[in-house]
Amino acid sequence: PKKDQGLSRDLYQLMEEANLYYQSQLRQHSDKQKVIDYLDFRGLSSKVVEQFGIGFAPDGWDGLLGRYRQNQAAQDKLLTAGMLIANDNGKRYDRFRDRLMFPIRDRRGRVVGFGGRVLGDGTPKYLNSPETPIFHKGNELYGLYELKQRHRDPQQVLIVEGYMDVVALAQFDVDYAVASLGTATTAEQFQLLVRSAKEVICCYDGDKAGKAAAWRALETALPLLKPGDVVRFMFLPQGEDPDTMVRQVGKDGFEKLMLDALDLPAFLFETLTAQYGTDKSALAKQAITLIERVQDTVLQNLLLENLAHKIGMNSADDLKKKLGFAVKQQQPMNKKGLQGRGTPLRLAIA
Ligand code: GTP
Ligand code: MN
Ligand code: MN
Ligand code: MN
Ligand code: MN
Repeated sequence: PKKDQGLSRDLYQLMEEANLYYQSQLRQHSDKQKVIDYLDFRGLSSKVVEQFGIGFAPDGWDGLLGRYRQNQAAQDKLLTAGMLIANDNGKRYDRFRDRLMFPIRDRRGRVVGFGGRVLGDGTPKYLNSPETPIFHKGNELYGLYELKQRHRDPQQVLIVEGYMDVVALAQFDVDYAVASLGTATTAEQFQLLVRSAKEVICCYDGDKAGKAAAWRALETALPLLKPGDVVRFMFLPQGEDPDTMVRQVGKDGFEKLMLDALDLPAFLFETLTAQYGTDKSALAKQAITLIERVQDTVLQNLLLENLAHKIGMNSADDLKKKLGFAVKQQQPMNKKGLQGRGTPLRLAIA
């Protein structure tokens, strides 16, 4: 463990050096004008560029590597940190080339990874740091450190898809957004956010993928919610993402849209209704498989009550009788369980 700590310390150090290097290239590289033009094209202010430490990885194989020519040990660690790649012959080169660089900080503010955007239309659009000893994508959230710098105890946090969304929102003073890193929002990320803020609002892109991401987020959040946790879902017009949206409607307009965000039960039942229409039995079956996953019995019973009303019944108890649900749990179902003090209900279709 002692050795690991030493390695990690060196990796953090090298990541910070890389970060300073990319930032310096944005100020002084001979190609800097095309980057400035791109920032301009994306409408990013120099203030927000500075605030998020955005930099530039120049084109070429050894921009970063070249700074460690005489230092084999540092090169080895940069490889471990994902900043260099070794080809089949063992020759090393820079992972990030000709890209706009977004440093990803952990909760303590240490740079642990980067996202690099191509300056235009190339592929891949984003290149991200790989998993390393100090970077575990599923545990980090882009922008969380920066958010906490501004709001020690935030009321609300927005979860968005992209780096650009976080940065653009902050530029327009919606300065409480974070992004999950390319992958779907993980349980760890949700856990972290519901503990950090009173309200978590998912705001994915206004497209099919964004809709799917919202539903996945609901499924991920269900088992870990506790009484009082608020997770809501906000939907943007087709083709928009938070970046394009906030540029059109500004902070006030964006926050108005936030007011329309659906709470979790509403999103759940709207989606099921859209899917099953008047087939109440199918809707109930699907709802039950989701409600089963809820660990918190208060929330679980709330959802059951919602479901009962949705399909035209008076109470969760009526619902269970009518549809013939059997309780699949170690202890028999009782009022106490429904009130939230016993084991969570395990419901199954009889
Ligand atoms: P802009 O086009 O710059 O506005 O980016 P965007 O964030 O709107 O892109 P998009 O909605 O396509 O993707 C959302 C997020 O998914 C990005 O911020 C990245 O984190 C990730 N992502 C997008 N494209 C790629 C890719 O080609 N490779 C990887 N690894 N991740 C990507
Ligand atoms: Mn603020
Ligand atoms: Mn998208
Ligand atoms: Mn975008
Ligand atoms: Mn997008």
